[in-house]
Amino acid sequence: MTDADPAADGGVAPGGTDPAVEAIFDAVAATAPEIRAALPGRRVESGTDNPSGESVMAGDLYADELLGDAITAVDGVGSFVSEERETAVDAGGAVGEADGEPPYAVAIDPLDGSSNLRSNNAMGTVVGVYDAPLPATGRDLVAAGYVLYGPITTMVVADDAGVREEVVEADADGSVSRTVVEDDLRLPDDPLVYGFGGRVPDWPDDFTAYAREIEDELKLRYGGAMVGDVNQVLTYGGIFAYPALNSAPDGKLRLSFEANPIAYIIERAGGAATDGEVDILDVEPEGVHDRVPLYVGNEALIERLQAALD
Ligand code: AHG
Ligand code: MN
Ligand code: MN
Repeated sequence: MTDADPAADGGVAPGGTDPAVEAIFDAVAATAPEIRAALPGRRVESGTDNPSGESVMAGDLYADELLGDAITAVDGVGSFVSEERETAVDAGGAVGEADGEPPYAVAIDPLDGSSNLRSNNAMGTVVGVYDAPLPATGRDLVAAGYVLYGPITTMVVADDAGVREEVVEADADGSVSRTVVEDDLRLPDDPLVYGFGGRVPDWPDDFTAYAREIEDELKLRYGGAMVGDVNQVLTYGGIFAYPALNSAPDGKLRLSFEANPIAYIIERAGGAATDGEVDILDVEPEGVHDRVPLYVGNEALIERLQAALD
């Protein structure tokens, strides 16, 4: 167990990760029990829209503020951007002066799948740690992770050393612990599950044809929160997609806050990620709130998808 108090010494992380990166994940873990505890009263719309034009739930706002305060307080964070904020927060440092060295730019989706608040289904927090000013490509990520608010609060963290799953718990004394339960997550070789977003009549014909094949081979697992659905793929093998739609050729998910961190995690776990044409990590952003189609999972399934979309 490591102390997840962001003020505490980051210590040496598994795999020799930069202590500043580890301190960022300590800060994220430290907020998780508090965010979870605050959700019951925050299942309603806040009355505002975010920069993507989507209605913001009270839970989104609460998580964004808590995470913003915790992450910008970490030594080594130079800039903070959030799905819920128009512009970056300057956290006191010029990002991108040296590869793999602080200060970093941290991008978050404070609550992914927050429409699941009403129906009490899974959701989570997505985190990307970049060593370049945003917008940047996913090649500038040095680490990425997500918290999953399921029956258990878990945090998946990926860096150069690989992918780990931790259980995050509030202890009796108020501190927060991180316990590694899987120290080298890899996508299973034999895929079992798939989950595809968007309405079927809105899918382009080539994607529909691919989906028809996959439906014959794998079991449907779709919960409406990318982190929950991707965690099923990471656990059982398979494919998750929020595809390009006829009505929305760039899909729904955001490159900086959602697609890049998830692509980084899945690729470090031995899988693949594409926007249909190129590796997600190579997609050049124009703005920090850009959307992108996302297809992630076992390599063989992603290769077939790319061939199907050609
Ligand atoms: P967010 O709650 O951060 O806006 O993200 C929701 C995303 C993602 O979690 C999920 O895969 C997708 O939207 C679901 O969209 P639909 O509700 O349109 O299926
Ligand atoms: Mn999201
Ligand atoms: Mn969100």
